[in-house]
Amino acid sequence: MTNIDHNLIPESLDAYWMPFSSNRNFKQSPRFFVKARGMYYTDSNGNEVMDATAGLWCVNAGHYREYINQAIAKQLESLDFAHSFSAGHPAAFNFANRLVKHFPDALNHVFFTNSGSEAVDTALKIALAYHKLNGAGGRQRLVGREKAYHGMGFGGVSVGGLVNNRRQFGVLLPGVDHISHTLNIDKNAFSRGLPEWGAHLADDLTGLVQLHGAETIAAVIVEPVAGAGGVILPPQGYLQRLREICTEHGILLIFDEVITGFGRLGASCAAERFGVTPDIITTAKGITNATVPMGAVFVSDQIYDLFMNQSPAGVELFHGYTYSGHPLACAAGMATLDIYEDERLFERALQLNEHWTDAAMKLRDEVNVIDVRCMGLIGAIELAPRQDAPMARGTEIAKRCYEKGFWVRNIGDAMVFSPPLIITEEEITTLFEMLAETIREVD
Ligand SMILES: Cc1ncc(COP(=O)(O)O)c(C=O)c1O
Repeated sequence: MTNIDHNLIPESLDAYWMPFSSNRNFKQSPRFFVKARGMYYTDSNGNEVMDATAGLWCVNAGHYREYINQAIAKQLESLDFAHSFSAGHPAAFNFANRLVKHFPDALNHVFFTNSGSEAVDTALKIALAYHKLNGAGGRQRLVGREKAYHGMGFGGVSVGGLVNNRRQFGVLLPGVDHISHTLNIDKNAFSRGLPEWGAHLADDLTGLVQLHGAETIAAVIVEPVAGAGGVILPPQGYLQRLREICTEHGILLIFDEVITGFGRLGASCAAERFGVTPDIITTAKGITNATVPMGAVFVSDQIYDLFMNQSPAGVELFHGYTYSGHPLACAAGMATLDIYEDERLFERALQLNEHWTDAAMKLRDEVNVIDVRCMGLIGAIELAPRQDAPMARGTEIAKRCYEKGFWVRNIGDAMVFSPPLIITEEEITTLFEMLAETIREVD
């Protein structure tokens, strides 16, 4: 076999339909990433740029961790693939055993998927099947939240709350409702830590109970900190209140922790950071440091035990994916956990929280900045939109940042940040100083 470099710059850009992209814009002036190390990417023009978003909130231990690469290679040498449908390989069991030790107690069982979207759809299906098995088959309604992002499966889009992700795809799932989002810049702008105002917004769920009857509602799903909606923090007491309402009415509470899982908030997960334990947690992204696609759904003893004790003989849940618990993903995941543990990266994110917040809050007096929201190593600097041109200012700032050597992301006019947890204090300072300078340059 000849040694071909599959990363060579492509001759044609036509065949590949890029996800979530303006294909036409990109293909007019393409930009390729060809290498990544630690905090930095290198593009095909030889520019080195800081990865201020850890890929898409996923490369939590930084790029090119040789230890993970080697673990994947080693796994390939012994077992490249075995499916998990009534079959087993050790890595999936070993990885699940280790994972549950990091997550809050009672969530002691793991269902593997290949992505966050699949994790969300899996969680919603488990919730529906749980109630049916429990003699409450009338509980079929699913509740999401405005501005939520739960991936791109039909379930996730249905409970999601971002209009652009919904409007192209018809009526979606029936029986889905949404509670109010918690972003309120008038009340909460520049809150340090969790905003004070807004715990009562959880009572929206009580409104739905009064409207439909609790006996029709299966589950409510929320991102504890909403990411793709523009980094929206839960008001103080909000998640606790949601937990209380769910418990009172027998509704399952699902936390979508695809972003917040694995250290982003300075704890293994948001449930731990905020001291609120849901019935199900969805994760993905940081679980393998993004080296091999994987998602995982953490399920409580109560749910798992019901399936094991009450299901008729045979398959307990008619659900799964060819690659659920893929050996390479499990090997990557275990090596990733080793790094998180050895380098104490979740604690590191917690320790950096103060400096991160200080550096971000310095931008509050810059022109056009209307809010700063941050926690752990996630943050958003929200800018006022230009009149009649929402997103234009954010896009221009992101473009200029790139030219200065920082790959940052704008969600509309919010500049959002979620760097690898290995970022240093100096890099944080530089990143926000560069952003302040760029905001001043752009009208
Ligand atoms: C909260 C949340 N849920 C689900 C997903 C979907 O994950 P994936 O893109 O791996 O399907 C994402 C992706 O960003 C996410 O942020």
